[in-house]
Amino acid sequence: MAKRLFVKTYGCQMNVYDSARMADVLAPLGYASADGPEDADMVILNTCHIREKAAEKVFSELGRLKKLQAAKAQAGGRMVLAVAGCVAQAEGEEILRRAPFVDIVLGPQTYHRLPEMVAQAARAGGAVLDTEFPAEPKFDFLPEARAEGSSAFLSVQEGCDKFCTFCVVPYTRGAEYSRPASAVLAEARALAAQGVREITLLGQNVNGWRSDDGWSLGRLLRALAEVEGLERLRYTTSHPRDMDDDLIAAHADLPQLMPFLHLPLQSGSDRILAAMNRGHDRDVYLRLAERLKTARPDLALSSDFITGFPGETDADFAETLDIVRRVGFVQTYSFKYSPRPGTPAALMPNQVPEKVKEERLAELQALLLAQTEDFNRACVGREMRVLLDRPGRHAGQLVGRSPYMQPVHVKAAAHLIGSVVNLRITALHPNSLEAVPT
Ligand code: SAH
Ligand code: SF4
Ligand code: F3S
Repeated sequence: MAKRLFVKTYGCQMNVYDSARMADVLAPLGYASADGPEDADMVILNTCHIREKAAEKVFSELGRLKKLQAAKAQAGGRMVLAVAGCVAQAEGEEILRRAPFVDIVLGPQTYHRLPEMVAQAARAGGAVLDTEFPAEPKFDFLPEARAEGSSAFLSVQEGCDKFCTFCVVPYTRGAEYSRPASAVLAEARALAAQGVREITLLGQNVNGWRSDDGWSLGRLLRALAEVEGLERLRYTTSHPRDMDDDLIAAHADLPQLMPFLHLPLQSGSDRILAAMNRGHDRDVYLRLAERLKTARPDLALSSDFITGFPGETDADFAETLDIVRRVGFVQTYSFKYSPRPGTPAALMPNQVPEKVKEERLAELQALLLAQTEDFNRACVGREMRVLLDRPGRHAGQLVGRSPYMQPVHVKAAAHLIGSVVNLRITALHPNSLEAVPT
């Protein structure tokens, strides 16, 4: 009998990719996807540990699932409950202590072993914990990726050796690892053959990707641009320290490479950047932004910021506002600093009061929102290539993404789903752009 799997994903795009691959791994065991946890025989929470709030969500979700699991058992059935991802990696034992009804706890580097874990959980009845960092990369054991729709993620790099003082990722994902170019190209070809038109390369430090024979990400992008059927390429998340000349040149040379780059800055203050161990100062970032825009004049930047890092003064924060005004960002994510157990910054003196963090975040977000709105407004009247990827809410309408990831809706025939079309933007809505064919 067909079994049903429900995966709930928290956190970053790497987790979105991992969730899809966990479903791929379990498909041969007869698991098809469920619409919700209610009709699932197995539920996986793929979790995020980046900020306290993210990690807390897992335990409240587990509380809800416990009831479903009990109801199912009472009706003579069974719901296997697994916790995967970065909270599992960081707090594996703690999860089993606080939530003993969980069957499987697995880290981000062991999900290729899921079939064994499921079998083991069925046999033993006790919980299975696997948060190892195995010597063998999981990628070597995964089945071919199944595409859903015309845009796909492709993980090329994992882990992080940068150790920014605020961040849990080096501990939850392990050391930097790059997949071989041949494996990346094979996966890209397989996705393109299934109708994928756009690939976003993923990695915690995606531009730190290196092949054994010395290729850097720019070279890989050039090879991907040759793959038949692929019309658009993106990559995320990049570190300013790893933006090399060849990668910048790729932005000038490859029309497939979208003119939109997520390049987190975190702070505009040299003092804070140093305390964060980011490995670059504000000048490096300003120069990078300039070089990227010279290479590709229509390029727009997106970024991440943290307010209230330990020791951040009003003067430091003013530097952040200043650099935001100078660079101009079209899309951003910004957060209050959240002390994470086991990271150096959590132990630093001069922790900033919550209220100050919040006030600074509100001021920064107002500025960033104004920049996003200005950019979106300036798009009205422009022509853009849009990848139409799904039906819209109204009949006869399709929705797609602009080069800048803005949702765009247009009246168009359904057979155009999966194509990149030329559109003229005619109006700005609160969460999308409206367009007509040109
Ligand atoms: N590798 C990426 C970021 C990954 S984490 C980079 O180097 O930029 C995603 C974002 O979460 C970070 O850019 C940062 O802005 C935010 N973040 C990470 N740890 C945080 C913390 N302890 N408190 C608040 N925000 C944090
Ligand atoms: Fe975290 Fe820094 Fe690594 Fe990004 S580069 S994942 S912020 S430690
Ligand atoms: Fe979160 Fe882990 Fe991604 S901590 S942001 S899910 S790498």
